[in-house]
Amino acid sequence: MKKILVTGAVGFIGYHLTKKLISEGYDVVGVDNINNYYDPNLKYRKLPILGIDKTQIENNKVYASNKHPNFKFVKLNICDRSRLEDLFQYENFNIVCHLAAQAGVHYSNQNPHIYIENNVSGFINILDACHKSKIKHFIYASSSSVYGNRDDIPFKETDNVNKPISIYAASKVSNELMAYTFSHLHNLKTTGLRFFTVYGPWGRPDMAPFIFTKNIIEKKPIKVFNKGNMERDFTYIDDIIGGIMLIVKGDNKSAYKIYNIGNANPVNLNVFIKTIEKSIGRKAQITYQPIRDGDVIKTYADVSLLANDYNYKPSTPIYIGIEKFVRWYKEYYKI
Ligand SMILES: NC(=O)c1ccc[n+]([C@@H]2O[C@H](COP(=O)([O-])OP(=O)(O)OC[C@H]3O[C@@H](n4cnc5c(N)ncnc54)[C@H](O)[C@@H]3O)[C@@H](O)[C@H]2O)c1
Repeated sequence: MKKILVTGAVGFIGYHLTKKLISEGYDVVGVDNINNYYDPNLKYRKLPILGIDKTQIENNKVYASNKHPNFKFVKLNICDRSRLEDLFQYENFNIVCHLAAQAGVHYSNQNPHIYIENNVSGFINILDACHKSKIKHFIYASSSSVYGNRDDIPFKETDNVNKPISIYAASKVSNELMAYTFSHLHNLKTTGLRFFTVYGPWGRPDMAPFIFTKNIIEKKPIKVFNKGNMERDFTYIDDIIGGIMLIVKGDNKSAYKIYNIGNANPVNLNVFIKTIEKSIGRKAQITYQPIRDGDVIKTYADVSLLANDYNYKPSTPIYIGIEKFVRWYKEYYKI
């Protein structure tokens, strides 16, 4: 069976991917530095589910799962190049799914250096290790934010992405450029995935679905920017994981590929809030605020390229996805 490295393995998307790969019998090594950008308990709580139930996780030590013989976990910072290269040499991966990154659009404009360190230097460490150990396929997370603000919708992979409006977006554009260079120079197969606003169980606490749900449940006001006149192509986590799995199993057609991976169905923010209200059974208290720097008005994925190449078909409507998220949230926080 193929051996796969998942970076960001106890983050939101990385955890779901890790679980799926393990359940399908792949040999998986999960790496994460378990940073505290958001409540790290949300990451630590995933470890026992994956069969890593040590009370103390030491840095750079490989832990074998006691539930899944095909899973190991290492708390490792991808910025530590020599440790990372040791891991690559020792493990001999076939495929790398690189999801570790400093996420967050607004945080990036106040803390640019963190993004350069984790998303640019960290990325080149992984990319170079993939090249040196002759990985078969390097799959990595890009973002819909690379598109910036634009009127021509839906967003297509052929659109120009040279005007990112946040440092986070700029770091993701730079990843795509570096991947291109490595594909060109070394014939490394790379596939970049531009994720569109992913939500679902274990979702990120800095993102709107989580913040709105939390505040409505706790009867606190929610901040809504630009009077809610924004649209997001919210994509349920299972559809994202389904898409990544198609790519893991499939053969990428050329050395360098970029795909949108979204729901292809943008939802207005006010409609989104109403969906959460309905699911919780309580009205939101809304405080309207002007639009923030770095916010884009609308995201809308054209997914035809991924549909053509890999038969990708997202299938979760927003009301079902939100229902599942709210159910998870209530269970997790024992409400
Ligand atoms: N969630 C979304 O809607 C979304 C949208 C577009 C792109 N993305 C991208 O998808 C990927 C996964 O996002 P997510 O939502 O799961 O975020 P997340 O923050 O939940 O997961 C990222 C994980 O990477 C880890 N990490 C960060 N820096 C690291 C480092 N230097 N070394 C090792 N581990 C490190 C973090 O501890 C975290 O657990 C990221 O690259 C993100 O930029 C996410």
